[in-house]
Amino acid sequence: MITRYRIGTPFDMESVVVQLPVHDGALPGWETDAQNKCLTRTLAKSDIVYGLGESVRGINKRGWLYTSNNSDDPHHEETKHSLYASQNFVIVFSPDTKIAFGLYVDAPGKINFDIAYTDPDVFSISFEDFDADLYLVEAGSLKEIVREFRGLIGRSYIPPKWAFGLGQSRWSYMTADEVREVADSYDEAGIPLDMIYLDIDYMERYKDFTVNEEAFPDFEAFVKEMKDRGIHLVPIIDAGVKIEEGYPVYEEGIEKGYFCKKENGEELVAAVWPGTAHFPDFLNEDARRWFGDWYGFLTEKGIDGFWNDMNEPAIFYTADHLKEVFEGIRSFEGKNMDLRTFFGFKGLVASLENNPEDYRRFYHDFHGQKVRHDKVHNLFGYYMTRAAGEAFTRLRPGKRTLMFSRSSYIGMHRYGGVWTGDNQSWWSHILLNLRQLPALNMCGFMYSGADLGGFGQDCTEDLVLRWLSLGIFTPLMRDHAAMGTRRQELYRFKNTEAFRNIVGLRYALIPYLYSEFMKAVLKNDMLFLPLSFEFPDDERALTVEDQLYVGESIMIAPVYEQNARGRYVYLPERMKLLRFRSASDFDEEILEKGDHYVPADLNEVLVFLRPGHVLPLAASGARRVDEINEQDLTWFTFEGRPEEYELYTDDGISAIN
Ligand code: NOJ
Repeated sequence: MITRYRIGTPFDMESVVVQLPVHDGALPGWETDAQNKCLTRTLAKSDIVYGLGESVRGINKRGWLYTSNNSDDPHHEETKHSLYASQNFVIVFSPDTKIAFGLYVDAPGKINFDIAYTDPDVFSISFEDFDADLYLVEAGSLKEIVREFRGLIGRSYIPPKWAFGLGQSRWSYMTADEVREVADSYDEAGIPLDMIYLDIDYMERYKDFTVNEEAFPDFEAFVKEMKDRGIHLVPIIDAGVKIEEGYPVYEEGIEKGYFCKKENGEELVAAVWPGTAHFPDFLNEDARRWFGDWYGFLTEKGIDGFWNDMNEPAIFYTADHLKEVFEGIRSFEGKNMDLRTFFGFKGLVASLENNPEDYRRFYHDFHGQKVRHDKVHNLFGYYMTRAAGEAFTRLRPGKRTLMFSRSSYIGMHRYGGVWTGDNQSWWSHILLNLRQLPALNMCGFMYSGADLGGFGQDCTEDLVLRWLSLGIFTPLMRDHAAMGTRRQELYRFKNTEAFRNIVGLRYALIPYLYSEFMKAVLKNDMLFLPLSFEFPDDERALTVEDQLYVGESIMIAPVYEQNARGRYVYLPERMKLLRFRSASDFDEEILEKGDHYVPADLNEVLVFLRPGHVLPLAASGARRVDEINEQDLTWFTFEGRPEEYELYTDDGISAIN
């Protein structure tokens, strides 16, 4: 059962698809403090809080302050409060009473979820603007709460099936030849691949919907050449539109008045990759349609997938604040800077990037109302991706288009997936990746994944292999790395065979993964589940933060520590361990319920099959998703019957209504 409560006069975020009547009165179970703009409740010692989608820390969010404030911040340390997304859905579960409820806070401004941080026994939610729709979700189980909530927010985005293949990315492949070399090297190494990503340098001086003709001559022919060999090119689109006379996107946007404006009616000038740029007002329906149509520039050339970036939006500086900074710097000239002044001086240049004041300098036309950006800040990435998603139904009717975004808000899950942004080649980020997955699923984000191997910093071969032992289960499976970092394409590492085998295992798992993904999307279920969602009565399962159920049949427990030769695994039930070295080389062992130390060499992936369940595996050898032979499956069983398994198959590209 879902009940809608309201505080203040919220906007309609269009994050839900079911319009419930607003229930009079205050949110039960919470104290409403209008003066301090906050909701509070006491937590019992054993209460667990789940949710908040893409955020730092654990599966159990208890013990930290999470701020919904979409931020372009590549340092995903545990001390951070905000990442790129605001997914304001939480579930509070009391193991003592077995009672759980979900709460969705639909408000687009800054919100603090203080989950037993300030006071270890208190959960408080405080708002900058005390206007929100609150949806209280009550149901008999954790899984049922998610199902109900997902019904409220509408069906999650479905990508083409080929998007379950491996994608290789780097900032940036600079020329068509470099892209060809990546494809050739993958093929020569015998490692399957379905996508190569084009980062910002495919564009002409970082202008959206342009192609650098010198580096990528006859782009359309190149897209076809790659597609003929089974590789989809996936270009990036950025939120900022370069200011440049003669550039049609810029000129049209100015002429139609579709860029975000300041109080005085002038367009905001903010710099990103191309230097000074304007932000399309994605919250305005007409502007959204106009920007969306521009994706046609690339779909006409055969492109069938995109990633939307820098849409928090990221701001290097605004022209207005830059002026203030220069003035500030000049005011220090010739002065003896002491302790009091030096740090102020030093901070001036640092204050340019993503400055909170800059987010108050511009406005949107939202549902016909002039709204200051910071009031609706967390919607920007959602509405950019919505622009694309809505356009695809016009540009590529009846077909699925790959789309995922960096910034997000609940509601966006209907138009695209997410990747979790600029992580690092750190072992701890394997674990962060794992912990974010179920939380993303709770909030509707099903097609998701992290930059495997880590985006920032230099990776190591063992890190990439271990990361893949998680990454081969994530719907979005992409290896991406920042410029200046050690090369990370899988064929570059010494033990090519291990990479060939682990990616081969992924491709063999696709009949299962795709089935589980599709069923979860269509039934509003999660693909990745914490152990507690399956075993809420098992005290030990409640605290497991490094294992997940993936679909109905299997549990995974990746190794995420360097030089480890295995790991401790908790089994909440008797299970069959499948230790895969490749799709065709594995050993099996039945393990009893309880704690086990399970050895796992670098080239081994641990999969635990549940009793009463089966796992289908396709024959190895497919180099592309399209080559997977779904007719020829090997069934791993553990007291389960293959004929009882619901295998989901379709053509993988037709849109599903
Ligand atoms: C930031 C994105 O998070 C990253 O993935 C990308 O490579 C760079 N922008 C450059 O486009």
